[in-house]
Amino acid sequence: MIIETIVTTLGAGGRCNPAPMGVVLLSGEEGRILLRPFKTTHTFRNLKETGFAVVNMSWDGALYVYTALGDPDLPLLPADRIPGRVLRDHRGYWEVQVEDVREEGERAAVTCRIVKEVAREGIWGFNRARAALVEGAILATRLHLYAPAFVKAELDRLAEVVARTGGLREREAMDYLQKYAARARKVGEGNAAD
Ligand SMILES: Cc1cc2nc3c(=O)[nH]c(=O)nc-3n(C[C@H](O)[C@H](O)[C@H](O)COP(=O)(O)O)c2cc1C
Repeated sequence: MIIETIVTTLGAGGRCNPAPMGVVLLSGEEGRILLRPFKTTHTFRNLKETGFAVVNMSWDGALYVYTALGDPDLPLLPADRIPGRVLRDHRGYWEVQVEDVREEGERAAVTCRIVKEVAREGIWGFNRARAALVEGAILATRLHLYAPAFVKAELDRLAEVVARTGGLREREAMDYLQKYAARARKVGEGNAAD
């Protein structure tokens, strides 16, 4: 399972760098997470140099846009157990310490230990697979409005997101959606042939 978060790290001169990052929840490794930053990102450089980050949960879609594409000044609070900054408007966060950095390939694998957890409305970020399922479910309830080829292409695209970022429950639901749409297509083709 991957959740989407805003990771804040400290750069040169103590400047706080917020950026959206996916977080892999390591099954069977309670208290540890995996970050997969591209080695070209400031986040990666900061993680490697300082050894700390705050993983902020946020459901504010706009924040993902602005922090992915720019470097906005955000209201911040000091972290408690590590040198770092917390987004004031978080929905929960983890203060983490880097334990291991692997640099093979374009993306590094940075394993971190959670040293402090603050839960506000549950510790949970965006999950793209769940968002994809909601989109898929909307499509599946509007098959009469769209061309079958469009629905198939959209569901195939959403299925890729689910395969990459979902767990078993999400993959099963996506499979259900695709089969449902495929059956409807068959019925439609049958009618067209009549
Ligand atoms: C939802 C979302 C998830 C992202 N996940 C990652 C990720 O896991 N690793 C990564 O390197 N970039 C990821 N990105 C892209 C970075 O946020 C983007 O390249 C950003 O500009 C990096 O900022 P930085 O150079 O200040 O660290 C993601 C973007 C979004 C919108």
